[in-house]
Amino acid sequence: MRGDAASQFSREYAVPQVELSSVSKQYGNGRAILDSLTLSIAKGEFVSLVGPSGCGKSTILKLVSGLSPTTAGEIHVDGMSPENARETMSFIFQEATLLPWRTVRQNVGLGLELERVPRERRHAKVNSLLDLVGLSHVGEAYPRELSGGMKMRVSIARALATGPRLLLMDEPFAALDEISRDRLNEELLRLREEQKWTVIFVTHSVAEAVFLSTRIVVLASDPGRIHADVAVDLAYPRTAELRASPAYEQKVIEISRLLRDARSLAESGA
Ligand SMILES: Nc1ncnc2c1ncn2[C@@H]1O[C@H](COP(=O)(O)OP(=O)(O)OP(=O)(O)O)[C@@H](O)[C@H]1O
Ligand SMILES: [Mg+2]
Repeated sequence: MRGDAASQFSREYAVPQVELSSVSKQYGNGRAILDSLTLSIAKGEFVSLVGPSGCGKSTILKLVSGLSPTTAGEIHVDGMSPENARETMSFIFQEATLLPWRTVRQNVGLGLELERVPRERRHAKVNSLLDLVGLSHVGEAYPRELSGGMKMRVSIARALATGPRLLLMDEPFAALDEISRDRLNEELLRLREEQKWTVIFVTHSVAEAVFLSTRIVVLASDPGRIHADVAVDLAYPRTAELRASPAYEQKVIEISRLLRDARSLAESGA
């Protein structure tokens, strides 16, 4: 499934940052959610996970972040167990989980406070993060005063405060209207150019996955497994104009078709 661009890509970014080897997951004595899943993600990749609801996308992020243990198999992040690699990653959830009684500044600085970073350094860091996500003007506002898109940017700024190398993003823009989502997609890529994170991104939007990713993993369900692993060989930086290009549209069609196949596999019980 992976073409020439992909093999060239994997030569350039040969260092694996996240490795799942034959990972299986069951919650309690329930059915197998993931069955022997193997996936290797190199430094600098932006990998989107797409697949039917319930196929285990969020579960994969929880396992990689160490929030939930594997039932079998191994996961390494930067060569460490997820528990030991916690400081290297940040998790961004669909709902911007901000503390309502804290201002934007205080929300962004939360992780730094917990790490006991001295006040002045913390303030300087929060300033630069607010600047980065374009929210310097609302530092003293409370979450209830912000739009959904702004809340999500606060949540991203907070996740970036601790200097992660790996971002785990679980449908972060799902609740936003299409225009806000498109704009945040563009901003996310702009930030990534500067910060060089590796990203694992979960989404139900094929268009979003194609716009953002270097690679898209299509999952089938029951049990969750890899149906297709496709390189997105569109050049960066990617700007709004890309969405009107034939190469982009072609990729959206290709991934949509794979996703449909994965869904019908699930429905037929195969
Ligand atoms: N804590 C839990 N205990 C028991 N079962 C769980 C738990 N978390 C998830 N599951 C089950 O595991 C399966 C995969 O869930 P997961 O949330 O990973 O799916 P998903 O692909 O993220 O779905 P969606 O696209 O709807 O977010 C589902 O059947 C879900 O009900
Ligand atoms: Mg999910």
